[in-house]
Amino acid sequence: ESFDKEGYSHYMRKEIAEQPESIRRTLSGRLDTRFQTTHIGGLEMAARELLEIRRVKILGCGSAYIAGCVGAHLIEQLARVPAHAEPASEFRYRNPVIEQDTLYIAVSQSGETFDTLAAVQEVKRKGGRVLGIVNVVGSTIARECGRGIYLHSGPEIAVVSTKTFTSTAVAFALLAIHLGRIRDMSTAHGARLLKALEALPSQVEEILAMEPHIAKLAKELAPHESAYFVGRAAGYPVAMEGALKLKEISYIHAEAYPASELKHGPLALISPETPTVVIMPRDDLFPKNISTLEEIRARSGPIYAITHRGDPLPVAVNGVIEVPKSEPELDPLLLNIPLQLLAYHVALAKDRNIDQPRNLAKSVTVE
Ligand code: G6P
Repeated sequence: ESFDKEGYSHYMRKEIAEQPESIRRTLSGRLDTRFQTTHIGGLEMAARELLEIRRVKILGCGSAYIAGCVGAHLIEQLARVPAHAEPASEFRYRNPVIEQDTLYIAVSQSGETFDTLAAVQEVKRKGGRVLGIVNVVGSTIARECGRGIYLHSGPEIAVVSTKTFTSTAVAFALLAIHLGRIRDMSTAHGARLLKALEALPSQVEEILAMEPHIAKLAKELAPHESAYFVGRAAGYPVAMEGALKLKEISYIHAEAYPASELKHGPLALISPETPTVVIMPRDDLFPKNISTLEEIRARSGPIYAITHRGDPLPVAVNGVIEVPKSEPELDPLLLNIPLQLLAYHVALAKDRNIDQPRNLAKSVTVE
């Protein structure tokens, strides 16, 4: 793989387009269709040790932290092990309790982020077990952890993460299935998830083909000064990543909120000037998200819904992006893809420096 933009106007756009291939690489050799589980070579933990784990704590910064929030949902839902993500810097400064039966997971694309490295060292100093989910092979965090999952996404040049965010979520799915299959997950459920993972690359292609539609919606969003992104359960980290991406490259103020919390504050700011992007997969929480649309509509807020194909939404919205359906636990991966393109096209419309946003660096190797 070359460092060339290969005809794309920006590295970010190229890396968005590379996702079907980078997902395939993250999955490569790791799906065990004989036992309907996953095989993770770098884990180096026997089933016996993995069964001792009572909690999972995920540490990272920026998009790596948010990918960890997606990962926490995957582990909790698929393996039924309590899991939680926390920004690595917050973790290390609050003198955390390090527990023997907790599995600590450090997430870092570059493997060089100082705060994440320091958090790993703190866990190790206090005798905790830690593994890494890292893209760059042989990087400092990968070496410090000594075991874990490499993403194999290929080089990511744009300051903001796109393909490595997706691959990190895929790596968490692999881990969650592995942990789940030595616990309560049935062979049938394992089989459904493996099939869904294999389908992801072509489903991402389908979303990429919606780019002209997404670019049109981006033109509507571009003049606004502020935007909300809301979602529930695993839809909330999708909203967090969508908001982060938009603010990083377009400089529009974007804030993510759990949809259920709208009425506890943000509703005061909903008006025709403040659009809301609502992450609303057609799952058990869909009716709750319809109520959210009604709350926003009642205040004349513009609405952009990221959802699945199905019946027309019962509330008038300004734009809809429909992504293909996966297994419910994997839906967040696909719901995130249009938000990358949305942020990209808003930034393009505003003529921003997309690959190198002001004041940001690809990896922050200082405190
Ligand atoms: C910087 C980058 C972000 C990235 C974060 C963590 O803030 O601008 O895009 O998510 O670092 O980087 P890492 O290499 O540890 O994933």
